[in-house]
Amino acid sequence: MPPANPVVIVTGASRGLGAAVARWLAKAGAVVTLVARSEENLQQVAADVRRLGGSAHVVAADVADVHNCRLAVKTTLEQFGRIDALVNNAGVVQPLAPIADTDPDEWRRNIEVNLLAPYYLVRAAIAALRQHKGRIVNVSSGAANLALETVSAYCTGKAALNHFTRVLAAEEPTVTALAVRPGVVDTDMQATLRNEADNAMPADQMAYYRQLKAHGELEAPEIPARAIAWLALYAPREFSGRFLDHDDPRISRPAREVLGTSL
Ligand SMILES: NC(=O)c1ccc[n+]([C@@H]2O[C@H](COP(=O)([O-])OP(=O)(O)OC[C@H]3O[C@@H](n4cnc5c(N)ncnc54)[C@H](OP(=O)(O)O)[C@@H]3O)[C@@H](O)[C@H]2O)c1
Repeated sequence: MPPANPVVIVTGASRGLGAAVARWLAKAGAVVTLVARSEENLQQVAADVRRLGGSAHVVAADVADVHNCRLAVKTTLEQFGRIDALVNNAGVVQPLAPIADTDPDEWRRNIEVNLLAPYYLVRAAIAALRQHKGRIVNVSSGAANLALETVSAYCTGKAALNHFTRVLAAEEPTVTALAVRPGVVDTDMQATLRNEADNAMPADQMAYYRQLKAHGELEAPEIPARAIAWLALYAPREFSGRFLDHDDPRISRPAREVLGTSL
């Protein structure tokens, strides 16, 4: 069981999935450190968190910089004295181009956000997480297991994030570390795939992303976010090292029971 007011760091909390994770955590009375670059959006999410019964600490910063990740952990510990969970959710999908045409700086930037930032945050928070048998939820993607043309950095970064999670779980017996696939979610990232991949992505792949939106097949962020919030608070030790689906009934059912059906 988590403590009454668990302390959770959520990256990419300014919009989309991460903002919804923060709101569900607030409903469970959590203290949430909200990390992303857009300060104005973060302050709006912080207001939601307080309205829903939680506490919020805003860190407006780029997680690709190791110093910012250390600062997020340091200020959380200074203000709240503990860390119970870390949700590595910040992500970018670009560059969207065949490998042969990608900009190396953009490719490196993707790996910095999707892979190195989770490592920086784990590295900075692991001692605190060990103290309270904490949890690490790495938000991955089905792309980790797919060879999606024109999405090379993202697929590679998420595959590496899954393997990082496995090694982390092997090394840290007191911490529960897992990766989760949130499905296809109606956020800005999907809009980027629909709108910015033209000319690069194969036509059938492009049509697939557009049809998901047109046919109402994208998941509302609140649904996978509830599963992620539940995992951050309750994931059992046997999940450590696993790459799990958000709609796995072992997750989605207790998430609905514990956190409810609406925010
Ligand atoms: N949407 C989907 O269908 C889908 C599917 C599979 C997996 N996922 C994963 O789910 C996670 C959340 O994605 P989303 O769909 O919610 O996307 P989103 O709406 O684009 O949100 C991405 C979040 O990451 C933050 N972020 C990006 N770069 C950052 C940086 N350098 N430093 C700090 N924060 C940064 C953004 O905030 P700022 O711009 O304010 O920094 C934003 O809060 C990602 O890891 C993504 O790969 C999404």
